[in-house]
Amino acid sequence: MPVHVVVGGFFGDEGKGRVAAHLALARRPWACARTGATNAGHTVVYQGRVWKLRATPSGFLHPGARLYIARGALVDLEVFLAEAEALGLQGRIWLDYNTGVITRDHVERERSDPHLMKTIGSTGTGVGAAMVDRVLRRLRLARDYPELRGYLADTQAELLDALDRGELVLVEASQGYWLSLYHGTYPYVTSRDTTAAAALSELGLGPRSVERVTVVLKAYVTRVGGGPLPGELPQDKALELGWAEYGTVTGRPRRVAPFNPELARRAVRANTATDLALTKVDRVFPGARCRRRWEDLPREARAWIEEVEDKLGVPVTVIGTGEDVECTIDLSREKGVEA
Ligand code: IMP
Ligand code: MG
Repeated sequence: MPVHVVVGGFFGDEGKGRVAAHLALARRPWACARTGATNAGHTVVYQGRVWKLRATPSGFLHPGARLYIARGALVDLEVFLAEAEALGLQGRIWLDYNTGVITRDHVERERSDPHLMKTIGSTGTGVGAAMVDRVLRRLRLARDYPELRGYLADTQAELLDALDRGELVLVEASQGYWLSLYHGTYPYVTSRDTTAAAALSELGLGPRSVERVTVVLKAYVTRVGGGPLPGELPQDKALELGWAEYGTVTGRPRRVAPFNPELARRAVRANTATDLALTKVDRVFPGARCRRRWEDLPREARAWIEEVEDKLGVPVTVIGTGEDVECTIDLSREKGVEA
């Protein structure tokens, strides 16, 4: 009963979306499920087209996959409906009856909270305020909204049945290990746990259903908002290196640091990673740009990837060499971990 979880190993924005999209095209799962909340923005570029997704699983690129949003997740009503309509996903994407719903009121409550907005650097997308309401048992769930009729299912039952039949389920988590409410750099964290275990809990699936956990690591580290960032570089240095980035949802410039094996190692161990995905390798080794075969990578890039594998003790099976999902090297078969 194989579940394959894709989870972030740094502070979010590692490129989980493009990795999940690649895995969906390569492994053709029966379903792609998304956990977390709509503060997270995932960018997917495929064959030159760009999607900025906040609710839809990035695996939607594989047309055969059913799309699910976890019952423990939170979706912004407007964001979800706009995305589902724009992508024509009705009849293919399903919210759980119990998925939490974020409203304008939650967004307002966060945006008027200086501790959240100034000190923590929240995305102000209402997720934390909706979590508060959920814990106090006054949050309205997807089942309470007539406009969501046609998008509702018992997603847990459907996924459990699929797993009983031996289907593959690809789970796409949000943010990264170091933004976890419990394991991250509190209080500079998000309002939820961001581990593979948390993703399963949100879906209502058990730990023994997992076959693979891919921890996604970018070739350098970025962080938006407050909190520690070891080895942080000045913005002009980031620009010079070609590592400057801006938030998908907020447009804020991201803080930048070199690849950090210590942060990666803890995330890899805590998530019991079976696989590593390294993204944006072309930003560190420009000769790697859009290479699709290991042999075609520059020698220094290959040496660096092997060093990361040695330090972290987990095989690198996916290498991102450009923003387009087509710019990917997949080593699963070579490394003997393909299901
Ligand atoms: P909040 O979860 O929106 O309240 O934000 C809390 C912290 O998590 C801030 O530092 C945000 O920048 C960060 N954060 C939340 N969601 C994301 C994301 O999807 N990517 C990167 N950082 C995020
Ligand atoms: Mg993001």
